[in-house]
Amino acid sequence: MQITLETKPYATLETGALVSYVFEDANPIQGTLAEIDKSVNNLLSKLSAGAEFTGKPLEMTLIHAPAGLKATRLLLVGAGKREKFDVAVLRKIAGAALRYLKSRSVKQLAFLVRENDLNEDSAQAIAEGVITADFETDKYKSDKKNDKSIDTILIAGYSDQNKSAGEKGLTRGRIIAEAQNFARDLVNEPSNKLTPKILAEKAEAMAKESGLAVDILDEKRIADLKMGALLSVAQGGPEPPRMIVVTYTPATPPKPSAPVIGLVGKAVTFDTGGISIKPADGMEKMKYDMAGGATMLGVMRALAALKPNVKVICVVPSTENMPGGKAQKPGDIQTAMSGKTIEVLNTDAEGRLILADGVHYAKQLGATHLVDAATLTGAIVVALANINVGVFGGSDQSWTDKLLASAKAVGEKMWQMPMDDEYREFIKGSFADIQNIGSGKGGGSITGAWFIREFAGDTPWIHLDIAGTAWNDDAKPWLAKGPTGVALRTLVNLAMSY
Ligand code: BES
Ligand code: ZN
Ligand code: ZN
Repeated sequence: MQITLETKPYATLETGALVSYVFEDANPIQGTLAEIDKSVNNLLSKLSAGAEFTGKPLEMTLIHAPAGLKATRLLLVGAGKREKFDVAVLRKIAGAALRYLKSRSVKQLAFLVRENDLNEDSAQAIAEGVITADFETDKYKSDKKNDKSIDTILIAGYSDQNKSAGEKGLTRGRIIAEAQNFARDLVNEPSNKLTPKILAEKAEAMAKESGLAVDILDEKRIADLKMGALLSVAQGGPEPPRMIVVTYTPATPPKPSAPVIGLVGKAVTFDTGGISIKPADGMEKMKYDMAGGATMLGVMRALAALKPNVKVICVVPSTENMPGGKAQKPGDIQTAMSGKTIEVLNTDAEGRLILADGVHYAKQLGATHLVDAATLTGAIVVALANINVGVFGGSDQSWTDKLLASAKAVGEKMWQMPMDDEYREFIKGSFADIQNIGSGKGGGSITGAWFIREFAGDTPWIHLDIAGTAWNDDAKPWLAKGPTGVALRTLVNLAMSY
């Protein structure tokens, strides 16, 4: 799919479909739309009078052979109220338009940006919208949806004055969306095609292609470093674990006192629950239990191209969680790399175990500001459904605020959860320093977060629970069913803010 910025007048563009958007307003036909209305002999006015053309969010109005345009079709997408319009809405509009036209076997489209939106951010949002919308999860289907494809996209409406802003946005949007699709592709892989070893190989290949430093710790080095928490999960099955480390260093070396971001992602390539085994119904979804790791690797891929002015270390502990004969059992006591002892009361609370060693190792490698992302708890799905990412912060609220500001800027919904000291009591161990589940008092996502926080210590830290948001159970008009790549855009924005 080729995307270019086009400054020729939209009416002269010979394309499969000219796409634009319409606001929900008493009179939706204003500005450029009034112009277009004239060129289609006031058809829009007529539709609008009959309430068929209202601008309601994602309403689709397709007009064939629009008289005064060179395009074969005109597609107008509802944008909702002008006051609520932002890059997140524009991204969805562009994505929904692509999927709508692709399903109708259209090959090219031109997306006309409205008169008030001709800036860098709009071009970025459109590029992100169409590239993420184009991703299909039909890799293993013989009869592919992808046989229908949009080949060329023009982003139109820009002039010589704002062309370079548009092109900058387009380039940035392309980098971010391709990184997001890279992460989604990893998440989409079933566990027989993506073991910890294979994930590590893919991470290594990505890092080498992107010019990032990479270090893959195999089971021997993991054992030498005494990463007992990660090893305890891995011992349940024959696939060896990996600790994946990818590092971005800016070209001009930052001062020694400068912050170093540590991104730690849970990558359980399949979570059966271990001896505390999960019910069969729906277990197939647990191939996405490596989405946190995939997101972090995707972030690194984007940062390699966007080149922020901050060092970023990405640490991805990866293993399966299997109930084999050598598996750890409830009540087992493990010693994490940090030296803390953990009573494993439930082997299905394995994400926090591998993150314990991941977070500790990231600190040892020099990270001063941590973010972890993990499909950690079913409880976050109860609390926030598939709408918001659960955000858990440590004592440094300014670090959490910085991430929340990034989330807002890129239009990813995130919600901060409480981390009162009282919750910490829930994981106090009876027979070891801490236990890996709370003692039956609810607040399951918070106790999970507190467990990880024990290993972050005083280092500014944020935990993102993406269990509810990393996977779309149903296709959206702008996104295929399956992996979403959530949190990637926020974390890229966060790193770019340095
Ligand atoms: N991978 C799961 C969490 C999960 C649940 C992800 C649903 C996506 C959808 C995690 O390892 C897990 O099993 N957590 C347990 C923790 C419990 C034993 C304290 C859970 O949420 O049930
Ligand atoms: Zn689990
Ligand atoms: Zn898990």
